[in-house]
Amino acid sequence: MNESVRQRRVQYETAGLDLADLAADPITQWHRWYAQAEQAGCVEPNAMVVSTIGADGLPDSRYVLTRGVTDDGFDFFTNYLSNKSRQLDALPGVSALFTWLQLHRTMKIRGVAVRIPEGESDEYYASRPRASQIGAWASPQSQVLRDRAELEARVAQVEARFAEGTVIPRPAEWGGWRIEITEAELWQGRPSRLHDRFRYRRAPEQPSGWIIERLAP
Ligand SMILES: Cc1cc2nc3c(=O)[nH]c(=O)nc-3n(C[C@H](O)[C@H](O)[C@H](O)COP(=O)(O)O)c2cc1C
Repeated sequence: MNESVRQRRVQYETAGLDLADLAADPITQWHRWYAQAEQAGCVEPNAMVVSTIGADGLPDSRYVLTRGVTDDGFDFFTNYLSNKSRQLDALPGVSALFTWLQLHRTMKIRGVAVRIPEGESDEYYASRPRASQIGAWASPQSQVLRDRAELEARVAQVEARFAEGTVIPRPAEWGGWRIEITEAELWQGRPSRLHDRFRYRRAPEQPSGWIIERLAP
């Protein structure tokens, strides 16, 4: 065991979290925490680790950037032929985790992924920088490459295909997923590991549609 890792302890002196502080629904709460994370200068505050379930039954995780958070869910964009997308096609269950360590905060969401309407993927693709649009055509995401040169040759082919200044259409295999959430959990670090945790669960009988429960740390 690496001693410096074992002994490393940071006291979380950040202000606590109480039920009265929380929005009635997790989407509003996410927007509040996201705004505070941006203000605090957190790196990539819209990054989340998305975990899916592989064909071998083992979980699989990777970061993506959320590009839209609405009452419908959390949107991200990727290649529909990538490992994550193939896993979601087979088993759409998702856990995703936002981490804002400067604020000693995480927010976990759980739910089910669905493909977003094609028009919305077109719109977002059109807003991306040209180099990213070319990358989406050139990279067979998650597939084995012989070497870096193979990727660069693919980029050159795509650049030759779409003349400078022309509109690059969205590749059919690239688009968005929406995580429709059923559950969310806020975690706020507190001193002596007595952290604050609150879980939102769907409850159609509640005016907000959610119930909130405090969990032991
Ligand atoms: C901060 C960060 C943000 C990322 N955002 C995305 C994203 O929005 N979409 C995406 O396809 N990959 C994104 N990636 C790359 C993925 O983590 C991953 O390598 C890729 O999507 C392939 O994953 P898969 O093979 O599990 O499908 C991001 C990586 C990092 C570190």
